[in-house]
Parts: sequence; structure tokens; C-alpha cells
Amino acid sequence: MRTIVITGGTDGLGKGLALHHLRRGDRVVAVGSTPAKGRALLAAAAHGGAADRAAFLQADLTSVAATRELTAALLDSHPRIDALVLCANRYRILGPRHLTPEGFEHSFALAYLSRFVLSHGLRTALEAAPRPVVLNVGTPGVPLGRIHWDDLQLARRYSGTAATLQSFRANDLLGVAFAARHPHSRVRYIAYNPGVVATGMPDHLPQPLRALTKAAFRVIAAPVAKAVPPMSGLLTDPPAEPFTAFDRTRRLPLSGTAFDRDAALRLDDITRGLLDAPAGKGR
Ligand SMILES: NC(=O)c1ccc[n+]([C@@H]2O[C@H](COP(=O)([O-])OP(=O)(O)OC[C@H]3O[C@@H](n4cnc5c(N)ncnc54)[C@H](OP(=O)(O)O)[C@@H]3O)[C@@H](O)[C@H]2O)c1
Repeated sequence: MRTIVITGGTDGLGKGLALHHLRRGDRVVAVGSTPAKGRALLAAAAHGGAADRAAFLQADLTSVAATRELTAALLDSHPRIDALVLCANRYRILGPRHLTPEGFEHSFALAYLSRFVLSHGLRTALEAAPRPVVLNVGTPGVPLGRIHWDDLQLARRYSGTAATLQSFRANDLLGVAFAARHPHSRVRYIAYNPGVVATGMPDHLPQPLRALTKAAFRVIAAPVAKAVPPMSGLLTDPPAEPFTAFDRTRRLPLSGTAFDRDAALRLDDITRGLLDAPAGKGR
């Protein structure tokens, strides 16, 4: 039986994927920060006869310490993980800059650092699977945003949009660096853009952005049920190459600056330094 760990597996795309794979007979461990959402997922799993194959782990992935604890707990309980799906995210497009208690800017911490820690931290469990895969769900292929090399926490000139887009670009580089750092790994790392999908994501946006996004979603967004099968297909039959990027079913070229190897290794080095630094220092 395959084991699939899904951060953000209690809502939206992650939940859709979780229920899909539970129906297919896999074991799913869903991670989220809200216990009620975890209970709802487990109830849905039980309703589908998969109670014994579904688990929920509560963790606030804005915290590096909590993400490390989660990683350790997963390694302990699941020495073999077939797939890691990284969906947890919460946009802070508007409003003031928010620092986590550990001193990281919110989007950098939640959308990038947690994925970095989990991707590298769970590698040994992934290597124990026959065809291990990491599916990092974001927006590869969208030419927006950049890495603010001299101010990664955006302390000098903050905007929520710049922070959100930077976290996406950092994840593009995370996949490149993962493959570069582990050249003999069997893990297939996939950067995945699901397109616009009708999830509850806009519910967390402030007004009037919430109403505008919901209105746009009604017109252009695909239902979760339609977005899940191509994601699931990649988990079941990953590409042969160590790192690939997709916009839904379309394979993206890796030639652009978004996937630049030198930039990826540079960010990888900086990130390791940040994670090793004492909380609140050197950020
Ligand atoms: N929907 C789209 O149109 C779209 C388009 C492109 C890319 N994406 C990407 O696809 C991924 C999934 O998006 P979605 O639309 O499915 O989002 P969603 O419906 O808002 O679900 C987000 C998930 O992340 C979890 N989460 C949020 N903050 C967390 C935290 N601090 N700690 C742990 N878990 C946390 C949520 O659980 P809790 O609420 O319990 O914390 C929830 O399970 C995201 O990475 C997003 O950027 C989405």
C-alpha cells in the first residue's frame, strides 16, 4: 500500500487529492493547521470506508520548529513515504508585513521554508519507496515575481504581492536545487501549476479582493474534481527525469531563469544558513 503525505490535505486541492487516493486504496496522511478540518477529512474518509488508511496531523507550517517536529514524527511513523505533496499555503496579499515568532516573513516561512524542510527532511523515507515523488504545487511557468536576494524577508520594501510571488519563485528553485544536491536520488521532484482552481482559497482574502477573486473564480476556475486527476497521474507515474515542471498536463521547458541552476544553488545555500541561524538572528 502506498503512503502519500499531503500538506494542506484538509482543504482545496490537497483534500481533493487525499480523498481521490483514499478511494484508490492508498494510505494518506494529511497535514493542516485546523483540527476541525482534519476531523472533517477523517469523517469523509470513514464515510468512504477508508478510516484505517487516513490520518491527520496538525501542524502550523509557518513555524520551522513545528515543521521539523512534523518531519521527525513522519519519519518515525512512516519509514517509507511514496509521495509528498506540498499544497499548504495561505496568501497575505494585502495588509502589513507579518513576521513569524522565528523572525521570517510569513510567505517565505509558510510557502517556501516549510516545503524546503519537508522536501529534504523526508528524503530518506522517500528513498525507501520504489518510485518516490515530490509534487510541489505552486505556479511554475508564470513569469511573475523574483527573488529579492538582498532582502529575502522584504524588510526594506514589503508588499504582500512581492512576498507571495517570491515564495513561488523560490519553490521553482527549490526543485532544481533538490535534484542538484541529490544527483543519485530516486526521488522525482515535480513543480506543478494546477491552473486556476475553485477552492476556498479566496475565503481568506480581505475584502474587496475576496469578492473580486470569488467572482473571477466563478467564471474561470476549474473544479477541484477536474484538477485532481492530472496531479494524481504524476504521483502514480512520475517522469523519468529528476526534476520536471508542469502547467497542468503541459510539460514546461526548464531553460528559463526561473529554473536557473546557479540561482537555485545560491538560494539553497542561503536557506540552509537561515535555518541553521539562531531564531531572530541574521535574517
Ligand atoms: N486554487 C488555485 O487556483 C491555485 C492556483 C495556483 C496554485 N495554487 C496552489 O495550490 C496549493 C493549494 O491551494 P488551494 O487553493 O487548494 O488552497 P486552500 O484551499 O486555501 O487550502 C490550503 C491548505 O493549506 C493549509 N494551510 C494553510 N496555512 C497553513 C499552516 N500555517 N499550516 C499548515 N497548513 C496550512 C490549509 O489548512 P488550514 O486552513 O487548516 O491551515 C488547507 O488545507 C497552494 O500552494 C496554492 O498556492 C492554487
